[in-house]
Amino acid sequence: MNLYFREAIKERRARPKGDLTSLLIAVEEDDQLTEEEIIANCSLLLSAGHETTTNLIGNGLLSLLKHPDQLRHVIEKPDIMQSAVEELLRFDCPVQLAPRAFIAEIRLGEVSIPTGQRVTLMLGAANRDGERFNDPDRLNLNADPTGISHSASTVIFAWARSWPVWKRS
Ligand code: HEM
Repeated sequence: MNLYFREAIKERRARPKGDLTSLLIAVEEDDQLTEEEIIANCSLLLSAGHETTTNLIGNGLLSLLKHPDQLRHVIEKPDIMQSAVEELLRFDCPVQLAPRAFIAEIRLGEVSIPTGQRVTLMLGAANRDGERFNDPDRLNLNADPTGISHSASTVIFAWARSWPVWKRS
């Protein structure tokens, strides 16, 4: 993957294209990014952006094919599409796990989590939590769709948020 991006960077240095890689190279030439940092950003965006969206489309289509009543519903009422996508994300989320390390001790209900503890958040299970969602194992494109998933604005926010951390390390 690194070789692929190194080659792509070389090509764009010779002939900038106005795409994201060319923009990152322009920042590099301003002395703000190293080539390694450009490659790290490209790899992150490729895996974070491509795997997730393709798997959402695949999982979402499969869920609709398995629930023909819901498929018919969204075909008849295309204006529910935005919330339908959120419900499809909740029902079969392409990102099932998110690892975390605690930088301070916290208490969650009955459980105390010490500083430095690593935990894995089970996003898929949280999206089927019966205390949070009515009838969580049913695909319902009319439901309040807000699951533990990921919206477009969060994508940009997540990238921007992690930026200062990369620059420090
Ligand atoms: C259906 C589409 C998507 C889903 C379900 C999704 C899901 C997620 C989740 C759950 C996280 C948090 C991971 C964590 O906190 O451990 C995350 C982080 C992130 N996502 Fe997405 N995402 C999607 C699309 C995208 C796209 C299109 C991009 C960029 C083009 C993107 C870029 C990122 C980045 C940069 C992070 C932060 C990674 C980090 O902090 O190390 N995501 N995404």
